[in-house]
Amino acid sequence: MCVFDAYGTLFDCAAAAAHFRRRLGARTEPLTEIWRQKQLQYTWLRSLMGRHIDFWHVTQDALDFAFDALKLKNESLKAGLLDVYTRLDAFPEVKTVLTKLKAAGFQTAILSNGSPMMLRAAAGSAGIESLIDDVISVEEVAIYKPYPSVYQLVLSRFSVEPREFVYLSSNGWDAYAAKAFGFRAIWVNRTRAPAERLPQAPDLVVRSLRDLPPLVGIRA
Ligand code: LAC
Repeated sequence: MCVFDAYGTLFDCAAAAAHFRRRLGARTEPLTEIWRQKQLQYTWLRSLMGRHIDFWHVTQDALDFAFDALKLKNESLKAGLLDVYTRLDAFPEVKTVLTKLKAAGFQTAILSNGSPMMLRAAAGSAGIESLIDDVISVEEVAIYKPYPSVYQLVLSRFSVEPREFVYLSSNGWDAYAAKAFGFRAIWVNRTRAPAERLPQAPDLVVRSLRDLPPLVGIRA
């Protein structure tokens, strides 16, 4: 079985601002960066504060912050960005890799901070709904990654041992935390980010999901 993180791993979060590049101009990359960083910070902060709210609300709050930080005021642009966020593109290799996994008999699942509504919508618009067997949202435990009860959801849902599946995330901290929890973890380090200074290093680092099929014994 292969379990995937969603945002940044299967779905390209940067695609939302890029979609509005003509309107955002030089603010496209800063918006992507601030929006994503704030979105993640709010998940961690709310988890520490014990004040959970679902990922759709966190995503909107983070976008509001990014707009203020960049002195953007356009409400229709904001609405457009949120709309595109619900139907993000998958990274180019995702469909092919999932198709190979399914053809080889692998079970596939998503474990994500995303709310069930967001994950259903993204999988549907990316055309990978039929290639994903199960979608697990942190909403089941109402706390965000990297809280251990989130990773526990995989073991509980499938009654599996950690050695029976591999977990893949492009978010370094998520791959480290999953490994620290006891998973076999692969960091899909799409951006060649430096190693995290966290316990515990993932089992493997790859550049994209293209590397996955041979790793699980599927020939090209
Ligand atoms: C997720 C975030 C971490 O999908 O990207 O869970």
